[in-house]
Amino acid sequence: MENFKFYSPTQFVFGKDTERETGELLANFGAKKVFLHYGGGSIKKTGLYDRIIESLNKRDIDYVELGGAKPNPVDSLVYEGIELCRKERCDFVLAVGGGSAIDSAKAIAAGVKYDGDFWDFFDNKASIEDALPVGVVLTLPAAGSEGSVATVITKEDEGLKRGTGSDLLRPKFAVINPELTYTLPAWQTAAGVVDMMSHIFERYISKTEDVILTDRLCEATLVSIMEAARTIVKEPENYEARATICWAGTIAHNGILGVGRQEEWTTHGLEHELSALYDMTHGAGLAVLFPAYMAYTLGEDVERYYRLATKAFGVPENHYDKRAVALEGIKRLKEFFSEVGMPITMQEAGAKKEDVPKLLQTLEKNQGREFGSFMKLNLEDARRIYEMACE
Ligand code: NZQ
Ligand code: ZN
Repeated sequence: MENFKFYSPTQFVFGKDTERETGELLANFGAKKVFLHYGGGSIKKTGLYDRIIESLNKRDIDYVELGGAKPNPVDSLVYEGIELCRKERCDFVLAVGGGSAIDSAKAIAAGVKYDGDFWDFFDNKASIEDALPVGVVLTLPAAGSEGSVATVITKEDEGLKRGTGSDLLRPKFAVINPELTYTLPAWQTAAGVVDMMSHIFERYISKTEDVILTDRLCEATLVSIMEAARTIVKEPENYEARATICWAGTIAHNGILGVGRQEEWTTHGLEHELSALYDMTHGAGLAVLFPAYMAYTLGEDVERYYRLATKAFGVPENHYDKRAVALEGIKRLKEFFSEVGMPITMQEAGAKKEDVPKLLQTLEKNQGREFGSFMKLNLEDARRIYEMACE
């Protein structure tokens, strides 16, 4: 296990009706005027918006609101948010929604405190040194942004989707009521499941040795996610299964499953090109890319994939043919993604094989010509992974 520092100051408030505590939480964190940020309106349809406002009013917390964060959130709304937030002198940013609303809110929180263009953070021209505090009411377990350091934004005119991060962006609090996820379309639930599993794979598929506790935590989380996801397909209002998925989504990406080991993130890089070019749902892109990445890198460390197959995907042990076991694991993963309603090929996800050169162009801009730590990859490897995801 490598040395590590792990800092996760977020207060998680989990369970039924917890959104009614939002005003009190804001007051506890000293908020006077809140910048309320949300997505395309699902929170109004479900009545959550009204409950949040009621909760703010109860504590006399003033607010200004800006909705409209769209899936794969864009820079234009972040600029608008920064301007409004400054003009209104808000001292706290509250995101209500999924990863997109949260990421947009985080970018606004950092941008407000920065004199230059907020995109500098995503261009590696500046690092985040100050930010307004952020709070979250989560409606979609997926991106894990409610507990993560990260924000991912798309610069529309250049078609670039990039992430940046800072401990300053870790939410002060995150309210997670699993009942709020009953209204999710099955597609979003499934995409969320793929995303959180992918956050675990990006940490688990690592060359670092002797991280047995984290390995086992990763495997237990994967098993729990798949079990709960299968229940939700049949019973969308099963509270325990929704609760499992909600908490799994958070711990999959707040860093605890990555401590002491080298993390990967290559497949996320490959996926961001898909969501940038096609405005694809992040989890759907990962569903087609991760099995391809795994098959491509299998030879790099068969033992690692053997462990994954046997411990997480229930493939029986066979020490005489570990490669076959590992491959069976990848096959089962693909079958699981399909079972919950995710696409199997890039074309099914809405991409075109002839666009692979375009994907490689932006990939080079974002990642350079070489990337990856588990297996060093170049653009030719990336092309082959994209092509495998088309088959
Ligand atoms: O916008 P509204 O109207 O709210 O509808 C949303 C949106 O259409 C809807 N939705 C959310 N909660 C709902 C609901 N509909 C009904 N009932 C509810 N309870 O679901 C749709 C998708 O929402 P979105 O926020 O886009 O999804 P998700 O949470 O998957 O976030 C995806 C974004 O997060 C980024 C992704 O790249 C993508 O841009 N990521 C962020 C990360 C981070 N900050 O740490 C890490 C991830 O790897 C990921 O890259
Ligand atoms: Zn992700």
